Amino acid sequence: MGDYMYTKEQVKDRINQLIDPSCEKTLGATGGVKHIDIDDDKDSVTLIIGLESDKDEYKRHLTRQLAKLIKLDLGFKGMKAEFQLNKKDDSILAREVKYIGVASGKGGVGKSTVTANLAYALKRLGKTVGIIDADVYGSSIPTILDMEITPPKGTKDEKIIPYNVDGIELISTEFFLQPDKPLMWRGPMLGKMLTHFFYDVVWSDDIEYILVDLPPGTGDVALDIQNFIPQCKMIIVTTPHPSASHIAVKAGFAAEQLKHDLLGVVENMSHLEHKGETLKIFGEGGGQIVADKLKTDLLASIPIGQPQDHLSIFGMKEPIGVDYLGLANKIIKAMQAKTTD
Ligand SMILES: Nc1ncnc2c1ncn2[C@@H]1O[C@H](COP(=O)(O)OP(=O)(O)O)[C@@H](O)[C@H]1O
Ligand SMILES: [Mg+2]
Repeated sequence: MGDYMYTKEQVKDRINQLIDPSCEKTLGATGGVKHIDIDDDKDSVTLIIGLESDKDEYKRHLTRQLAKLIKLDLGFKGMKAEFQLNKKDDSILAREVKYIGVASGKGGVGKSTVTANLAYALKRLGKTVGIIDADVYGSSIPTILDMEITPPKGTKDEKIIPYNVDGIELISTEFFLQPDKPLMWRGPMLGKMLTHFFYDVVWSDDIEYILVDLPPGTGDVALDIQNFIPQCKMIIVTTPHPSASHIAVKAGFAAEQLKHDLLGVVENMSHLEHKGETLKIFGEGGGQIVADKLKTDLLASIPIGQPQDHLSIFGMKEPIGVDYLGLANKIIKAMQAKTTD
């Protein structure tokens, strides 16, 4: 063994500072160091380096830089470098998509109903919309959209084709889980599932908005979302009842702690219109309280109601359908404002 004492990590740190001549970024920035091995017997370093372009002149240039670093500066006897072309990230994560997470403190407040109706409203306003149903503990978007639960179709290169319901693309944890498996299986599986949803689903090229129906409360899914899509903006859904609004505030703070912008609050089941009277059967004011505490806006108050022609989706001419159009309009404006400031 030579008189050098460099670890793989130290060598990698030094190589990471070299510039990929094809794009003028450091190899650290492009993630260009694909493989590194130090052979102690032969005092030699073996490398696989990814480049943004594989022109010979770039390879020659970088080979000289690498040899100088490895042999002259670090004192190894030998170096072997192979080059490959960096793979382009062709997943949805490499695209300009507006993500909106729909969160709540507890289940049953209508988070999924709001998500699905908001998707329809955005679609009716001319937007291309997808839904990620990530609420593994109470996945319900397929039920809300009145769909049969069958595994999604795959492509030849093992990508997942999302469902298309009335022009809205959908992927749901529900399609991948056997309903009779216990809940405890779901946590660990979900981590991988979100990776699939972001990397392996062939969303249509023109998708503009993706709504994410989040599990209630905080947990691994929230952390995964923060990791994959830190730019995701959040809507908090609550009912007017103090018990729901109290815990909705917590969900809002949790989202802020993960550095997500809040778009605002939706109060669902806010009242019931009955024979010309407005009945506040679940209490009053919860949505505004949550919005005030989170220093954000109350975006909509959606009354209790049942759509005329669908299980859960209101027609655009029904009063509640109009409420959802109003919500969608506010969200489109807020998303534009948030991306330009
Ligand atoms: N505005 C509303 N009026 C009447 N029923 C509603 C309303 N919003 C939701 N629901 C019903 O309440 C139940 C829970 O809604 P859901 O969207 O599944 O809640 P979550 O996703 O928060 O658990 C469902 O049966 C749904 O149909
Ligand atoms: Mg739900």
